[in-house]
Amino acid sequence: MKTLVLIGGISQNSLSKTVYNQIVKHNNTNLTFGTFDISALPYFSQDLENNPPQTVKDLQNAVKQADAVIFITPEYNRSFPGVLKNAIDWATRPYGQNLWNEKPAAIVGVSLGKIGGFGAVQHLKNVCSFLNMNVMNQPEVYLDASSSMENGEFVPDTVEFLQMVLKNFENWVEKTK
Ligand SMILES: Cc1cc2nc3c(=O)[nH]c(=O)nc-3n(C[C@H](O)[C@H](O)[C@H](O)COP(=O)(O)O)c2cc1C
Repeated sequence: MKTLVLIGGISQNSLSKTVYNQIVKHNNTNLTFGTFDISALPYFSQDLENNPPQTVKDLQNAVKQADAVIFITPEYNRSFPGVLKNAIDWATRPYGQNLWNEKPAAIVGVSLGKIGGFGAVQHLKNVCSFLNMNVMNQPEVYLDASSSMENGEFVPDTVEFLQMVLKNFENWVEKTK
């Protein structure tokens, strides 16, 4: 099942990109992962929504074609990054074309802080709920980078935990797609 992974960190050495690479590396399911570079999107403007640039059309097609979505979000000031909200907003317009509707989704929070992106995940859940996505509520994923990774790799406990999460998500997608 085609799973679109949107990554909230766009810096070169982004923690959330590392999490994505580790999820791909340790994937123990039949989910196939692909991502989309949200840094290439313009800021959302209603002036552009009826005739958006190609990057926006590419994002919209990627969302349309996905059987499921995973958001990997860092925490910026107790919320999820604006660049991720921008991408989400693009796939809700023009009015009446909410491409997220009924997509099975999982949210992975990651941060350098001990609460593992809790604030980011909670805010993102609100948005997903409004967009009528089928978000898997359990197990929750809050990765504290200082204890869950070493030298850019998940520690063994994190690998085991993430594989359990992915198995649950695979079942969730089967049930809700
Ligand atoms: C603007 C900004 C705000 C941040 N706010 C938080 C925060 O609220 N909680 C937290 O745990 N870490 C916070 N951090 C630290 C991030 O967890 C850390 O920079 C992490 O690497 C971000 O993930 P990324 O590398 O994928 O962007 C913040 C970082 C930035 C740049």
